[in-house]
Amino acid sequence: MTRIPGFRAGLIGALLGLAGAATAQVPAIFKDADLKLGEKLIAEHKCNQCHAQKWADDGKAIYRPRGRVNTPGLLRGMIDQCSLELNLSLFPDEVTAIAAVLNRDHYRFKP
Ligand code: HEC
Repeated sequence: MTRIPGFRAGLIGALLGLAGAATAQVPAIFKDADLKLGEKLIAEHKCNQCHAQKWADDGKAIYRPRGRVNTPGLLRGMIDQCSLELNLSLFPDEVTAIAAVLNRDHYRFKP
C-alpha cells in the first residue's frame, strides 16, 4: 500500500524533471522572451542589412559566440547599447526578445 504513493510521487518527479530539462535549454533571462516580437524587431530595424555592409556573409558573420559577447547577459547588454546608439528607443522586453532570437539562431548559450 505505502509503495504506491511513493511510486506515483517518483513518476511525477520524473515528469517534472523532463519538463525542467526542456526549458533548461534556454538561459534564464531569455525564458519569457517573445521570440516572434524579437524576429519582427530585427527585421524592422534592419540589423542584418547594416552588419552585411561591413561584414561578408549576409550580415550574420558579426554574431560571434566565442568573441567578446560570450554570455547571455553580455549579449543582451550589447543590444541595449546598440539600441541606444542607434536611437531605437526599445523597451527592455524588446531588447530581451531580440537577444533571445539571436541566442536561438546564433549564440546558443546554455543556462
Ligand atoms: C548602423 C549599423 C548597425 C545597425 C543598424 C545595427 N548594428 Fe549591430 N553592430 C554594428 C557594428 C559596426 C558592430 C561591431 C561593433 C564592434 O565590434 O565594436 C555591431 C555589433 C553587434 C553585435 C555584437 C556581435 C558580437 O558577437 O560581437 C550585436 C549582438 C549586434 N550588433 C546586434 C544588433 C542588433 C540586434 C541590431 C538591430 C536592432 C543591430 N545590431 C543593428 C552596426 C550596426
